[in-house]
Amino acid sequence: MQTTIRKCLFPAAGYGTRFLPATKAIPKEMLPVLTKPLLQYGVEEAIEAGLNTMAIVTGRGKRAIEDHFDISYELEHQIKGTSKESYLQEIRKVITNCTFSYTRQIEMKGLGHAILTGETLIGEEPFAVILADDLCDNEDAGVLAQMVQLYKKYKCSIVAVEEVPYEDTNKYGIVAIEEQLALKYEFREDESDAGETLNPDFSLGDKAFKITDMVEKPSPQDAPSNLAIIGRYILTPDIFDILRETKPGKGGEIQITDALLQQAKQGKVIAYKFQGKRFDCGSVDGFVAATNYFYNKSNA
Ligand code: UTP
Repeated sequence: MQTTIRKCLFPAAGYGTRFLPATKAIPKEMLPVLTKPLLQYGVEEAIEAGLNTMAIVTGRGKRAIEDHFDISYELEHQIKGTSKESYLQEIRKVITNCTFSYTRQIEMKGLGHAILTGETLIGEEPFAVILADDLCDNEDAGVLAQMVQLYKKYKCSIVAVEEVPYEDTNKYGIVAIEEQLALKYEFREDESDAGETLNPDFSLGDKAFKITDMVEKPSPQDAPSNLAIIGRYILTPDIFDILRETKPGKGGEIQITDALLQQAKQGKVIAYKFQGKRFDCGSVDGFVAATNYFYNKSNA
């Protein structure tokens, strides 16, 4: 089995109802923060983490996504040799540095179902998942790059977590944790493949923990902690078999949290408190905060 992470899955089939009417004809993942669509930020984070194969789960009305990650010959022709050509530099770099494949989720039955729909694009190998509406930024290595480093050591599923106010636990998957894991990587002779590519100076986030329980959108009084799962995952491929057996949970949707709990019961899921900032761009408040943050950063 392939053990390095090469592929990143982007579930992008949701309706984005919180952004209606903007998302009536435009996918939520294509809404721009400054001049760049949310999905492009996600793809750039995956490339930075060393991944080169982007697998996108789309749905009806999401064709703009495929067009964005393709050459627009007419546009290229129009602006060739002009000062405006520089505006296309970043997206050209993305297109030449990775491949894109797509599949459609026919019925929107939840995030777990969207990930299962992506199985045909992923196959039998560990993979990353980015929810592009969670926009992350870090001065040092990106959040996914940090998680890939952690995967090299532990070779199991990993979820990025962040402390949220208790009154917000009902918006997230919430984890219960036990023992704290060592983050420093010790090189071992018998793990030469991991040792070769690992950067020993890599600065990881705060802490990693073994997960003992997870609950989807609990009310504050039922929440086992205030550690919320955000839109970055590394998953081992056995998750697909588990998802196939997972019954609809909270909200009648197939929840990735319920499937991950099966792996967690075998001690195989890590919660990682990442280094960096996260903006919930699926909400208007988070989107505005991200826009202000990136605007100030670009003018600093
Ligand atoms: P969200 O619940 O945040 O997205 O799902 P949404 O449903 O599009 O947004 P609202 O609540 O209606 O405003 C998290 C991620 O999972 C994807 C979404 O596209 C988003 O990236 N998703 C969700 C799917 O791909 N398929 C689904 O059936 C559900």
